[in-house]
Amino acid sequence: MPSVESTSAAEHRPSGRSRRVWSLAIRVFHWGLVACVVTSFLTMKVETDLFDFPQNVHARAGLIALGLLLFRWGWALIGDRHARIGSWLRSPAVTLTYARDLLKRRADIFVGHNPLGGWAVLAMLTSLTIQALTGLFVTDDIFFEAPLHTLVPGAVSDAALWIHHLNANLLLALIVLHLGALVAHRWLGERLVGAMFSGRKTLPQGARWAETDAETPHESEQGSEREPDQMKERSASAGKGVEPGRSALMVRAALLALFSTGCVLWLWGRL
Ligand code: HEM
Ligand code: HEM
Repeated sequence: MPSVESTSAAEHRPSGRSRRVWSLAIRVFHWGLVACVVTSFLTMKVETDLFDFPQNVHARAGLIALGLLLFRWGWALIGDRHARIGSWLRSPAVTLTYARDLLKRRADIFVGHNPLGGWAVLAMLTSLTIQALTGLFVTDDIFFEAPLHTLVPGAVSDAALWIHHLNANLLLALIVLHLGALVAHRWLGERLVGAMFSGRKTLPQGARWAETDAETPHESEQGSEREPDQMKERSASAGKGVEPGRSALMVRAALLALFSTGCVLWLWGRL
């Protein structure tokens, strides 16, 4: 661990050993996505008698994944603090410093995604979105036509299929990397998986929170709606903006969920 601690860094360091990190929205998104992606790969890559028409199951799992991703992109802009892209996508310089500290086993613990993880999440979300969107235009030329296949010229559909096949491999590599990173962090003493179930992250023995993760009212140990002004200021001064209230977040989540569900239902109706 770095031994020198400046006063300003200490001021921005979150307090408490256990911190709220993943909202219910993120946890539902994550495990729903895992179920859909596993089903998508199972139906296309594994010989099984489980499904009479694997393409139909595949397309439906893909459409639900698309709905979840639409929600997640919206939530990355207007969601809670740790969900917002501005809080987890850090500069290459910060990412490099974090990678060096990690190799030396002296990296601080980030409440949300760490800088390396942030880039990996961006890559996964982008690859998943490309996969789900290209799937909308493809056909297997035998049993199945995707919902938007007839709306585009054959060349576009062929290109979409080509990207769908190519990106499937990239996606698989990213997932393997994702699971490998979780194992590596566990080996380094940081348990990340539990937090994706419980929503709370616990500081390992002897570690400390990264200074940029200033505490916000929503993450305080009490988790109450009381919003001390100095916390709002700290959060704003860390460049993350003021955390919206709980009811504002619920309204935003409901609107995003409504929009994504509407898109999925419309596409589902065209299958
Ligand atoms: C199909 C397989 C998977 C996919 C596509 C996937 C995708 C993702 C994505 C997109 C995120 C970012 C979450 C967000 O900010 O919205 C994430 C984070 C995470 N995933 Fe997965 N995931 C998969 C499997 C798993 C599995 C099997 C586990 C647990 C054993 C897991 C544990 C986690 C954890 C702990 C995080 C948070 C990492 C952190 O603290 O930075 N994932 N995953
Ligand atoms: C995130 C969501 C998705 C994932 C992870 C996914 C994954 C895959 C994979 C791994 C393959 C096999 C590729 C190969 O063998 O090289 C495949 C093929 C296919 N996918 Fe998807 N897919 C998704 C979304 C969709 C959607 C939304 C549709 C249609 C509504 C769709 C329709 C198809 C079809 C028809 C094929 C077979 C193409 C052929 O016969 O060559 N997929 N997909």
